[in-house]
Amino acid sequence: MSTTPLLFSGSSNPQLAEAIAKRMKISLGDALVTKFKNEETRIEIRENVRGAEVFVVQSICKAPNGNGVNDALVELLLMIDALRRASAARITAVVPYYGYAKQDKKTKPREPISAKVVANLLKTTGTKRVVTMDLHAAQIQGFFDIPVDNLMAMPTLCNYLKREGLSDDRIVVVSPDAGGVHRAELFAKRLNASLAIVFKRRPQPDVSEVTDIVGDVKGKIAVIVDDMISTGGTLAKAAEAIKARGATSVQTVATHGLFADNAIEVLTNSVIERVIITDTIPILQPAGEKFIQLSIAQTFADAIGRITTNRSVSELFSVEEIKLDANFVESITVS
Ligand code: R5P
Repeated sequence: MSTTPLLFSGSSNPQLAEAIAKRMKISLGDALVTKFKNEETRIEIRENVRGAEVFVVQSICKAPNGNGVNDALVELLLMIDALRRASAARITAVVPYYGYAKQDKKTKPREPISAKVVANLLKTTGTKRVVTMDLHAAQIQGFFDIPVDNLMAMPTLCNYLKREGLSDDRIVVVSPDAGGVHRAELFAKRLNASLAIVFKRRPQPDVSEVTDIVGDVKGKIAVIVDDMISTGGTLAKAAEAIKARGATSVQTVATHGLFADNAIEVLTNSVIERVIITDTIPILQPAGEKFIQLSIAQTFADAIGRITTNRSVSELFSVEEIKLDANFVESITVS
């Protein structure tokens, strides 16, 4: 197998794919990713991949060119199929945001387990490995019978918080729901901060209500940590409840900024002072100075480098201080 990896990108997050390629000191592979007139996805790999170690970068999310979540998934599958038929030696799906992950179990009769369907599709088309980040539920790795590297944005996010002076006993890290406690604990440990938990219920999909808070937030700067922001309701409501309990200010960090529906407006009008997210998903609407996007391209470039040379990927997260990506974007204002 050729040792120089090839990196291809679908249309969902080309900016991140470019950034990863730049850090790997390679150019993105030549591929046509478009649509036929009848709206079907059309893929053509325009360079030789025979015997190559190939990575395809594609978040399962809406794209800057107007393509939807389902387009992103189909592009990824068809690119993998094309690469397999072109005799690539090993194909890795690099999925910074693994979409459909929220549907990872049946909560009612006659519902699909969508996260498993996506796993099946990736495997069937010829994916030999998946690299992703902060899966909504770590157990989704078990839906695959191939290796899955579930990277963490936590070191990048924590380094930024520390740089902003948001560490030590003035800070309380808050999980906005019971499911996020483990993640919040990791942040609290790294920031030498205390921990609090908000309990929420969802009376219906995409609607959240705070039922209780455990832990002391009075007089502290609260940092709410979540894996994703969809409608923004979870964070806005948790922030309000924490403020009402006496927190002096509320900041939020999340890996995946989906910003569905009017989330930007909800968060802009909330008591939250700063909304910090990464670039696993492109920001497609205007956002003000409250929104700060950090790049996790270096983490992906490092992981790909380690996979290519058969070195440990977990070591990447054991080092105490991962260097802060010098190219993070301070503040996004998309007009
Ligand atoms: C829930 O389990 C997740 O961790 C997020 O809290 C949730 O997906 C955020 O959704 P929304 O922004 O729509 O409240």
